[in-house]
Amino acid sequence: MAHGEMTVHGTAGPAREWIRSYAARRGRRSALTLERMERFLPERAIPEGPLDPVQAFGRSAPLVIEIGCGHGAAAIAYCRTHPDHDLLAVDVHTPGVARMLAAADEAGVPNLRVTMGDAVFLLRDRIAPGSVHAVHLFFPDPWPKERHAKRRFVSPFTLELIASRLEPGGAFLVATDQEHYFAHTLEALREHGGWDVVVGERPSWRPTAGFEAKGMRAGRAIHEIRAVRA
Ligand SMILES: C[S@@+](CC[C@H](N)C(=O)[O-])C[C@H]1O[C@@H](n2cnc3c(N)ncnc32)[C@H](O)[C@@H]1O
Repeated sequence: MAHGEMTVHGTAGPAREWIRSYAARRGRRSALTLERMERFLPERAIPEGPLDPVQAFGRSAPLVIEIGCGHGAAAIAYCRTHPDHDLLAVDVHTPGVARMLAAADEAGVPNLRVTMGDAVFLLRDRIAPGSVHAVHLFFPDPWPKERHAKRRFVSPFTLELIASRLEPGGAFLVATDQEHYFAHTLEALREHGGWDVVVGERPSWRPTAGFEAKGMRAGRAIHEIRAVRA
């Protein structure tokens, strides 16, 4: 078994092979990152264990999960424009999350919660089947080389996991500035089946900050996928 691979055996989700979809990062966290995490994370963190949305958000509302939120511009904008929804943002990258937490503090957004870690384990172990209104995946790490294709977050395994966590009619939104990732995602959705797929609809609430802006500056087209659980 190659480095970074392991087999996931779980009762709450599919038991399939998991491969890390993000690059391992080394190096120390800055004092600013640590200060922001210490100051802002406690009020946005969710209790350990399986997610109880009422306990985590203090109310019952449609739940959205954003995978790989980075510094959180999309998550914050969604929360601002959808005050009647709750959004749980997840990422493994501490400096990005720390930046999001500081921005969220300025923005208010009482409907935003944050958790650190791999989204696969969050979905598999902590999110009840059929309980999620939408899953967002914006500008995922591209892993363009064919020999790294297994690292792309979108895979038969994660599509099955996401499908199982979505409520009937729930949506999986993907945006990418990478042609190969667009084709890869469409193919994976087609192979998985069970999705009604619409392409080219840009969510009006999503700002272009972050990796979208980077892609646009480089002259790349932005591709949007909305896959609704059939
Ligand atoms: C290219 S960045 C995009 C960030 C942000 N969505 C944006 O559009 O600016 C991809 C992000 O996904 C995160 N990521 C990759 N795989 C992940 C996983 N399995 N679970 C949680 N976060 C992940 C990375 O740490 C990184 O912050």
